[in-house]
Amino acid sequence: MDRAFENHASFIGRPASELPTPSLIVDLPVLKKNVNTLHENVEKLGIGFRPHVKTLKTLEITRLMLAGGKYRSIIASTICEIRGCIPLVKEGLLDEVSPPRIPAASYQILYGLPIYPGALQDLVKLRESVRIQLLVDNEEHIDVLEKSGTQPWDVFIKLDVGSRRAGIPANSTALQKLVERADRSSAVKIAGFYCHAGHSYAGRSLDEAQATLETEISSVLNAAALLPPDRALTVSIGATPTAHVVQYLKTNIPSNVKFELHAGNFPCNDLQQVSTGLVAETDQAIRVAAEVCGVYPERNEALVNAGVVALSREGSGYSGFGRVIGKPAWEVVRLSQEHGIIGTNGDERATENFKIGQRVNLYCNHSCITAAAFYVYFGVDENDIVREAWIPWKGW
Ligand SMILES: Cc1ncc(COP(=O)(O)O)c(C=O)c1O
Repeated sequence: MDRAFENHASFIGRPASELPTPSLIVDLPVLKKNVNTLHENVEKLGIGFRPHVKTLKTLEITRLMLAGGKYRSIIASTICEIRGCIPLVKEGLLDEVSPPRIPAASYQILYGLPIYPGALQDLVKLRESVRIQLLVDNEEHIDVLEKSGTQPWDVFIKLDVGSRRAGIPANSTALQKLVERADRSSAVKIAGFYCHAGHSYAGRSLDEAQATLETEISSVLNAAALLPPDRALTVSIGATPTAHVVQYLKTNIPSNVKFELHAGNFPCNDLQQVSTGLVAETDQAIRVAAEVCGVYPERNEALVNAGVVALSREGSGYSGFGRVIGKPAWEVVRLSQEHGIIGTNGDERATENFKIGQRVNLYCNHSCITAAAFYVYFGVDENDIVREAWIPWKGW
């Protein structure tokens, strides 16, 4: 077994069962189906789409999410992701069938954190290659941009619609003041309003996801109404759970407003998404291959070589930190750095289910965090043969 990082491609053509453990395995048919479903829903609604590149941080998946150039906007959570996407601009986002040459100016990359001085220097450099958009949620952000003396920036005003992460509270006087301040400033041009419904991950039904979608829509449209009705604006809403119900969208969009959906986790899904009740277990495209390295009859547990670094300590609607595929009674009950402890609440015996050296595949709670731990993503076909070995962008 060749574990050398530079030889990752040598696994292409071999069965997934020969991959070193732990490995991150991407089920390519499921991944493509997930991407196609969202594209079809967006197409039917005739709205825009902005994929987030932070889940599987690679050019290959970004190309897939952009549908070979049909969609032209991206959101990124790190400077290194933005840097990683620059080749897409240079290549005109190659579509293997009929390459659409897209002028660089029509690409837009939104930096996904509210802007702060430490990021500006890199973004100024990057905007020589690609159109960069920024998020602001405080009048101080406008001060920062004014003081920087840089060329005016396209900004989205970020609204908090319930996640209590970033964003100025929707429908607030503070928002009204921020809109007025941004509108007066020569350092920014308001591109529109953006909200991210991270709290939709806590939903457990279609009704809850639809209600959150409606809150997102009314919040961004109320914000857009703070500006004159002839102002061209984009409103951007989403998170994977609300993206999963976007087909139920029934709102009249004012003619000055371009409506856009954003999502990042959707190609992969995970136990958090299954917990929302909006996707099935079989819609998960990501799994972690691990190997049993201990069995403990006295406590009815087994040990695998995928610990917190490989799986993350993220939770979901399921108990534990991951579930053993094909053995529904067993889950990852505890974790330390490189140790994952497999246990059960049921009557099955660890000694009858696990042997040292046995391979197990685990569904993870949150694929974005789990994928960030790995240096190679192995894509497998319907026969579990490795067809791709992608190297993600690392760092910040
Ligand atoms: C600002 C922003 N937009 C969009 C997304 C994509 O959300 P999801 O991965 O739920 O689709 C995220 C994810 O954290 C985000 O932080």
